[in-house]
Amino acid sequence: MTRARLLIVDDDEDIRTQMKWALCGDYELVTAGDRAGALAAFTASRPAVTLLDLGLPPRPNDPDEGFEVLSAVLAMDPLAKVIVVSGQGDKRNALRAVGAGASDFLCKPVDMDQLGLVLQRCVYLAELEREYRATQHSARPDVFENMLGANPQMQAVFDMIGKVAPTSAPVLILGESGTGKEMVAKALHRRSSRKGGAFVAINCNTIPENLLESELFGHEKGSFTGAIRAHAGVFERAQGGTLLLDEVTEMPLDMQTRLLRVLETRRFYRVGASTELATDVRVIAATNRCPLQAVDNAQLREDLLYRLAVFPISMPPLRDRGDDVDLLADQFLAELNARAGTMKRLSQGARVTLHQHSWPGNVRELKNCIERAFILGDDVLELAPLIQSGAAPRGPDEATARERLDIRVGSRIEDMERFLIEATLDHFHGNKRRAADVLGCSLKTLYNKLNGYSQAQELASP
Ligand SMILES: Nc1ncnc2c1ncn2[C@@H]1O[C@H](COP(=O)(O)OP(=O)(O)OP(=O)(O)O)[C@@H](O)[C@H]1O
Ligand SMILES: [Mg+2]
Repeated sequence: MTRARLLIVDDDEDIRTQMKWALCGDYELVTAGDRAGALAAFTASRPAVTLLDLGLPPRPNDPDEGFEVLSAVLAMDPLAKVIVVSGQGDKRNALRAVGAGASDFLCKPVDMDQLGLVLQRCVYLAELEREYRATQHSARPDVFENMLGANPQMQAVFDMIGKVAPTSAPVLILGESGTGKEMVAKALHRRSSRKGGAFVAINCNTIPENLLESELFGHEKGSFTGAIRAHAGVFERAQGGTLLLDEVTEMPLDMQTRLLRVLETRRFYRVGASTELATDVRVIAATNRCPLQAVDNAQLREDLLYRLAVFPISMPPLRDRGDDVDLLADQFLAELNARAGTMKRLSQGARVTLHQHSWPGNVRELKNCIERAFILGDDVLELAPLIQSGAAPRGPDEATARERLDIRVGSRIEDMERFLIEATLDHFHGNKRRAADVLGCSLKTLYNKLNGYSQAQELASP
């Protein structure tokens, strides 16, 4: 059995040594002598229980330093177990600490038997809570592979993913911008027997036509000007895994013909190569256009559509998902609060806005909107000033973008850039090409920035 980890924070080295001797048989011990050391140790070791002396340097007779540690630890992990140790006759501070979230308190000099019992109880409670959280998580029917959705339409999507994922059948994911198509593609990958292989996504809209073939199938050295070395395309990089062809209707027709052939024969040539390669890739395609209309407009080959759409999955727009909008907003806000150690909440008006706004940019727009409100607002967040009243898309209009940006001294350039990009994208209902035009950057730059944001987010969330 592994021993629970215990962090002892006390500036008195003798006390730390004494505790070590008394407790090292039952616990794995980590110690710290001041606030910075305590927070670093807590972050690095995530102890089951922290034993915290309130009087720490530079003001050992003042409990404030200890209280700072207590609140920082609880901000990092609201369920952290902290036992506070205070000077004799200092019960007031001990009680105040319990009020601030400490699990228990002890007075100095610490009675080792009593300490042993209090520790045992805390470790036991921490364990129970962890188990409870784990079962809650797995038992939550409204969460599926990080996707949130209690609405019957979303439940049907989750069901479908569960059924289709283990097969190797191609899937076509349909839905407006920001409805979660990429999340679905990743869920299909993770739930399949290919999960050990790579998940590779390529956006057919951002790759210049003359490079698309090489991006898909790779090329040999010297096969065209600029091909200074051989290059593996996405079909090779996704070998044994899953390939997402995003915005597939934007692929030029002649490339669609080649793609169709590869899907049928499961073989392809690198550009400039004379030997064929075999491919073992599950292809998932996504589009925010109506595929039948794309066929009518001669944008999508009908035979390719039927090849890709063996299993179509339609993502409902957020405005049709009822109370899921609250569920999602609360989740996004909770994540931001947990990261920042705050307790911001939505105003009553913001709750109404959640249901009144039509969210043309769907979940992405909602997420961005909550983030902007979080950065701009204090304790109670408003949403209405950050969004347009569900109006039909308007042309580029500088005043609109400016209205929605609250430019304040103290803002970081990076944050303002992100605000501007996201506000513009929302304005054009997620249409990245139009957003890039108005922002005056290339489509590729826009995609790079958006990818950067979602990666930063993935790193930040556990
Ligand atoms: N059901 C959901 N639960 C939680 N987060 C979601 C959900 N759906 C989407 N998101 C979030 O919304 C954002 C957009 O999702 P995603 O990129 O999958 O959408 P998309 O349909 O591929 O958009 P686009 O058409 O613009 O490519 C992401 O940040 C994603 O994490
Ligand atoms: Mg996408």
